[in-house]
Amino acid sequence: MRAMTRDDVDAALAIEQAVQRFPWTRGNFVDALNSGYLCRVDVTQEDGIRGYAILMPAAGEAELLTIGVAAAQQRKGLGRAMLSEMLDAARERNLRRVFLEVRPSNVAAINLYRSAGFGEIGVRQGYYQNTNDSEDALVMACDLMQAGERENG
Ligand SMILES: CC(C)(COP(=O)(O)OP(=O)(O)OC[C@H]1O[C@@H](n2cnc3c(N)ncnc32)[C@H](O)[C@@H]1OP(=O)(O)O)[C@@H](O)C(=O)NCCC(=O)NCCS
Repeated sequence: MRAMTRDDVDAALAIEQAVQRFPWTRGNFVDALNSGYLCRVDVTQEDGIRGYAILMPAAGEAELLTIGVAAAQQRKGLGRAMLSEMLDAARERNLRRVFLEVRPSNVAAINLYRSAGFGEIGVRQGYYQNTNDSEDALVMACDLMQAGERENG
């Protein structure tokens, strides 16, 4: 993956709008870039931008705000590879934990997160809302510190 730039926003937005049930807007991507969040894209010469992920560091922890893989590229290991790279980047910044929120019905994402070491730590009621329905959010977290590091503070 490489850092996302303003020139990548159209391509990332197109994927986001195609694969997410509650997609981010262009403004959300631009804000994330302007705020200095960790914004990365997966690119190949052949396919262009295949996926993206955005991590917001805050107070020694981080929240994975969004991750998406183009429909034609899904189920090939790309999501797992991108998530692992984002967790490595968080570790390099000495962040202790990564959080995220996910819809309980998003089985693909929940399976991915569980296999990457995330566990469920709570539920936010009515988090995802639109005019016709509302859905709780599952809050998941992945501890990045080794046992020894934790003992040493
Ligand atoms: C979630 C997402 C990023 C996974 O990306 P991906 O590249 O398809 O995932 P991978 O191929 O790396 O799969 C990793 C694991 O995720 C799980 N998974 C992925 N797609 C799945 C599906 N359709 N059904 C069930 N489990 C699935 C599996 O456990 C899989 O491991 P396995 O292939 O060994 O069984 C992708 O499905 C996506 O972009 N979804 C729409 C956006 C979204 O929901 N993002 C998360 C919320 S912000």
